[in-house]
Amino acid sequence: MCKRKVAVVGAGNVGATTTLRIAESGLANVVLVDIVEGLAKGKALDIWQAAPVQKHDCMVTGTSDYKETEGSDIIVMTGGIARRPGMSRDDLVQTNFQVVKSCVEEWMKYCPDATVIMVTNPLDVMAYTAYKVSGLPKEKVVGMAGILDTARFRAFIAMELNVSVENITAFVLGGHGDDMVPLIRFTNVAGIPLTEFLTKDKIEDIVARTRNGGAEIVKFLQTGSAYYAPAAAVYEMVEAILLDRNKVVPCSAYLNGEYGQNDVFAGVPVKLGAKGIREIIKIKLTEDEQKEFDLSASHVKEVINTLKF
Ligand code: NAI
Ligand code: 2OP
Repeated sequence: MCKRKVAVVGAGNVGATTTLRIAESGLANVVLVDIVEGLAKGKALDIWQAAPVQKHDCMVTGTSDYKETEGSDIIVMTGGIARRPGMSRDDLVQTNFQVVKSCVEEWMKYCPDATVIMVTNPLDVMAYTAYKVSGLPKEKVVGMAGILDTARFRAFIAMELNVSVENITAFVLGGHGDDMVPLIRFTNVAGIPLTEFLTKDKIEDIVARTRNGGAEIVKFLQTGSAYYAPAAAVYEMVEAILLDRNKVVPCSAYLNGEYGQNDVFAGVPVKLGAKGIREIIKIKLTEDEQKEFDLSASHVKEVINTLKF
């Protein structure tokens, strides 16, 4: 039987897919919460009924009552609205600000010690909202975006070079927006710098496709945004926390002087373990990288400044 517990708020595409991954890993029981009670109950029951075939004993339940989240080690927040064609992540901000505020207030009554993984967009701004509204220590609120953006970058490079995705190591930092910052200096193919394989123009094309990675999928789907790769990225964070793996991954973290930024969330390399962020890894950026990072963080700040806490 599973001893750990994860609450996933939002039983939509990302929430349900994440729930499936966690349950099938055998790592934790999952409580799926949605404002639409039947949606959470129905999807949870469906996922639980796959357990005998998938051979795990992790219980999956659905609810709209936060009391059932009591004792959760982790809250994954996916509740809110998603992009449709023509919308930017920032277009979601006012609606999702209200959603995040109300959900945080609810789960804090029952799970004051849980580590929070934020997914709802605009990601860095919503992570900031959850941090401010919850009053949790900064280490316990962490945003998912960097793993997804980096996975997209790695996937596109692997396609271009016709090599295994596992050979590609990369880091995409900054905010989860059009001005995210892929660090080419730290991108390599089995340890060999990417610049040995691709021209500057080709790399720029791949960077542009990565920045546009979310919008490319929205354009295909028409009715919503990506969820398989996002759920895989959330799962990597859940696993790192539950198994206390001290995994170094790019995540959105509260910056208090790190990378020259204050009072903002942005994607940086972190060491992720039992209680969330064990350490923000500080690397010295070049002047150009720092400029790009500052631009990205200033964009996040601009959106934060439109909110009334
Ligand atoms: P979706 O529309 O499929 O699901 C959202 C769910 O949230 C719905 O089931 C809805 O009923 C629920 N919800 C709305 N208000 C709620 C409330 N007050 N309490 C509880 N549940 C509530 O959307 P999807 O595709 O699952 O995306 C969820 C969010 O995650 C969106 O904001 C999306 O932009 C974001 N996202 C972020 C990514 C990232 O890299 N950080 C990647 C993919 C999605
Ligand atoms: C993405 O990048 C919607 O932010 C989400 O796919």
